[in-house]
Amino acid sequence: MQTRLIDQISDAAEILRRGGLVAFATETVFGLGADARSGEAIERLFAAKGRPSDNPLIVHLSDMAQYRLAARELPPMAEKILRAFSPGPVTVVLPKSSEICPSVTAGLDSVGIRIPAAAAARELLRVAGIPIAAPSANLSGRPSCTTWQSVLEDLDGRIDAILTLPAPHVGLESTVVDCTGPIPLLLRPGAISLDDLQRIVPTARQSSDPAASRASPGLRHPHYQPSVPVVLIHALDDWDSRQAEGQAVAYCGMDLPSGSQNFSFIQQFDSVETYAQGFYEFLRAADRAGVDFILVQSARGPGLAAALFDRQSRAAGGAANCELP
Ligand code: TXA
Ligand code: MG
Repeated sequence: MQTRLIDQISDAAEILRRGGLVAFATETVFGLGADARSGEAIERLFAAKGRPSDNPLIVHLSDMAQYRLAARELPPMAEKILRAFSPGPVTVVLPKSSEICPSVTAGLDSVGIRIPAAAAARELLRVAGIPIAAPSANLSGRPSCTTWQSVLEDLDGRIDAILTLPAPHVGLESTVVDCTGPIPLLLRPGAISLDDLQRIVPTARQSSDPAASRASPGLRHPHYQPSVPVVLIHALDDWDSRQAEGQAVAYCGMDLPSGSQNFSFIQQFDSVETYAQGFYEFLRAADRAGVDFILVQSARGPGLAAALFDRQSRAAGGAANCELP
């Protein structure tokens, strides 16, 4: 299959309506869209990404009024959260409608819905007029993509088209909130923090809270990993460059390394916002540069920093560590 690069929203909508796969920019990361009502399209989508079939997809809609295309009901807490943060980087998990094919939700009776804020993405969803399942547009397990060039790197020949219109982006995937139980449960951190949610619905809790545990199936699988190992450090003082003699090391973080440290590929970020925006692209660029491993300074703090730290820990294969590969 040849992957076309396109810049017309109407062309992208037409391919989606015919059961094709189209990648498009959102304000979080690029998504890979497919008709959420078509078992055939969804099967192709899982195959293109190499995604495990037990990891459910988020259904994207152009506005709140469309929720019935995907969900049976909109509990009041979910409505409050959507009204406060949508269009935007939040996904609410709701009771699933029978219109959505079972493979989208990995057989679960719940469905995640999201209304992206990026103008081109919303226009695409409006013109297509159908519920669009869209996981991040990367090979399963790899870092998400924030440029169309990275999408092409992973998915060339596996999908029908990439809509190359860019969008300003947060750089981390949406906050996922389960609204199927008595209280909202935060399943995946993102730009919308637990504090933000609690301002709207004070009972909202972290899903790891033992009193409230309900799991997000996708979190079991490896995520955000380049082909070389990622090592998390808290501060450059923790790092003794003699440990990496003869190896090509990439480094990213908010502190700039001093001259004595010999890194072959470096990126310094001046704020948590730019760190989140550029993190995945840095991992991919370091990977392309052929380094032996990637040293990542952990983000510290609440909100977006906590969401970035979650992705950094997963990129490093689990919990934060300072061990050499
Ligand atoms: O920002 C985003 O959310 C991006 C853009 C493209 O919208 N999409 C994205 O999709 O990150 P994906 O497939 O990479 O991640 C979906 C996450 C997984 O952690 C999955 O387990 C969770 O959402 N999820 C989806 N449906 C769910 C459900 N019914 N119950 C629990 N978790 C669900
Ligand atoms: Mg993903």
